[in-house]
Order: sequence, then structure tokens, then C-alpha cells
Amino acid sequence: MKKVFLGMAALAMLFTSCNDDQNSIENTDQSKVDMSDFYVYTDADVDETSRLAQGKNKSCYSMVNLNRQLNEDSSLEQRMFDIEYDTRSLITGKKPSGNGNGNGGGPGGGGSGGGGEVTGVINIPVYVHVIYSNSTENISSTQINSQINVLNDDFRASNNDVNQVPSEFAGVVADSEINFTLAGTFRHSNSRTSWGTNDAMKSAYPPVTPSTHLNIWVCNIGGGILGYAQFPGGSSSTDGVVISPQYFGNTGYVSAPYDEGRTATHEVGHYLNLRHIWGDGRCNRDDFVADTPTSDAPNYGCPSYPTVNCRSNDMTMNYMDYVEDGCMYMFSEGQKSRMRALFASGGPRAAMAN
Ligand code: ARG
Ligand code: ZN
Ligand code: CA
Repeated sequence: MKKVFLGMAALAMLFTSCNDDQNSIENTDQSKVDMSDFYVYTDADVDETSRLAQGKNKSCYSMVNLNRQLNEDSSLEQRMFDIEYDTRSLITGKKPSGNGNGNGGGPGGGGSGGGGEVTGVINIPVYVHVIYSNSTENISSTQINSQINVLNDDFRASNNDVNQVPSEFAGVVADSEINFTLAGTFRHSNSRTSWGTNDAMKSAYPPVTPSTHLNIWVCNIGGGILGYAQFPGGSSSTDGVVISPQYFGNTGYVSAPYDEGRTATHEVGHYLNLRHIWGDGRCNRDDFVADTPTSDAPNYGCPSYPTVNCRSNDMTMNYMDYVEDGCMYMFSEGQKSRMRALFASGGPRAAMAN
């Protein structure tokens, strides 16, 4: 009798410790939404020097930046978990959680029945902060407008290369019904010639009304880095995306093969909660999007179709892969649902949808 009891207690402890290991974050409602595959930390910054020495490409600095923010802010992981929970609830047609820390579940548990999806075109007003140390970096308004136009083409699937999507994926090409308008440009002369990826440009020139506006800093990041973004859930004082001027827009001071404005499309994808198409891990990790096939690594250059990984054809032409600007030309329907979930009542970008 005593033995059995002890055995059960040991079993209970085992369960508890397993849970602790896998889930440092609180999941109060595991019955409704499966969160078992959720992750936020990646090995993006494990050893950047050795990655480069091995001839591997640089990691995406959006992921490096995310790891840093997770280390600096112990509540960020829970906020991202809550956002993910509500995103999955909305997508699977279940009610928002209504728990967590107020970042996730909508007030009063959401609207009647439908779950609070936003319908119709969402317009995002954009502030551009140009920070320059010389006149070429002080990019023209023509170049800025070209970037806004590319964002609109790409997020509305009116890009002129969308017809290159192979038939396997043509059925899931999405018009995300998200639109961008330039709300203002701020120009700042500064002697600093490279700004890095630790948000220095944001403390020098803080975002303007980030709850209702997408802030984009155009400044030289350095180190060959194209751009980086902050995911939803992060601090409002650093919310937005950063792009180096050579990769912003498709005319003026731009540099091939990243001269078609797709860096901003990719980074705004992160800003709207999209993960990389390969899930920043091997075949058993994914991007939490059902209609993008699993892959185990980024694709570079301009891959030919089909490119097979994890026993399926990669959607190499997706904006959230790492290919050249001229070789990415679609978001998927599943990605559209993820992005739009952020604008639902109670969601982290709800204020933008009004
Ligand atoms: N965050 C990526 C980086 O700078 C950007 C990738 C954008 N890709 C592109 N084709 N523009 O490492
Ligand atoms: Zn990225
Ligand atoms: Ca997927």
C-alpha cells in the first residue's frame, strides 16, 4: 500500500517536472487550443561567428533581436504565448481565452458568436524615420513612396510577379487585404554611420504613436544586414521595423539583388506575427501556418521549382523565406489569417483597424 502510494507520488512529480521543463509559460486552458508546438527562442544567435566561419549565411536579425528581448524582459514570452493562443483560437473558430495579462483575450470575451474577426481592407498608416550620415542615405521621397507601393502590391497580391507562383501553390496565394499609406516622413541628420540591431535608432528617435502607426526607421544597420523587425507583444517603445536605405524601396539608392522592396515586405510580415517559412528549426518545427509546407532550412538565391525538403516542395517564393527579392512573390491564405488575427478586438494591433 505504502509502496503504491509512493510510486504514484513519484509519478506525479515526474509529470510536474516534465511540465515545468517544457512550459515555463502558463497555459491555463490546454483543453481548447493545442499550444504544444509553440516556441519563441531560436538558436539564431547561438554562435554567429562560428556560423559565418562555417560558411553559413547570417541569421535573420529579427530572430536575434527577439532572443535578446526575451532575455531582457521576462514577461515577453508570456505575452507572445497569449497572442499566439488568441490567434489560434480565432483561426480555429473558438472563443478568445479571456485570460492572461490583458494583452490577449478581448474585453468581455469577444463579440457575439463569430469570435471578432476583422473584415474588409485594413489600412495601416506609416511613419518613416530617415536617419542619414550623408546625402545618399537621405533617400528621396520618390524612393520612400516606391516602398509604400511595393508593400501595397505585395500585401494585396497585386504584385506583377504573382503569376510566377507554381500551380501547386496558386490556390493559396492571398490578398491579405492590408493596405499602407504614408502618414509622414521625419528626417534626421546624425553623424553615426551604422546603427546595429539593438534598437539604438529607436531610443534616438522614438516611434510616433506606435499603437496606431507602423514606424519604419531607414538607417544604415551595418554588417550587411538588410533589416529587422519586432514581433507583436514587444515593447511599444521599440515597435516597428528597421531597414537599411540600400534595401528600401525599388528606386534610387538601392542595391541588387535586394532592390525590389521585399525586405520591408518580409520585415512587416514579422511585425504582423509571421515566422520564417521553415520555422527556424528542422522539419519538426514549423511556422504555425498549415498551408506553407514544412522545410528544414532557409532557401537562398533564386531556387528552381520544385525544391524538396522534409518530403514536400518548399514554398521558396514566399516572402518569409530568404531568397532574393526577385524570387519571392506571395503570402499564403494561412499567413493572411495569422496577420489579420492581430487586429481583432483585444488583439495587439486592434487600434490600427479603426
Ligand atoms: N531579416 C532578413 C535579414 O536581414 C531579411 C531578409 C529579407 N529578404 C529579402 N529578399 N529581401 O537577414
Ligand atoms: Zn526574417
Ligand atoms: Ca507550415
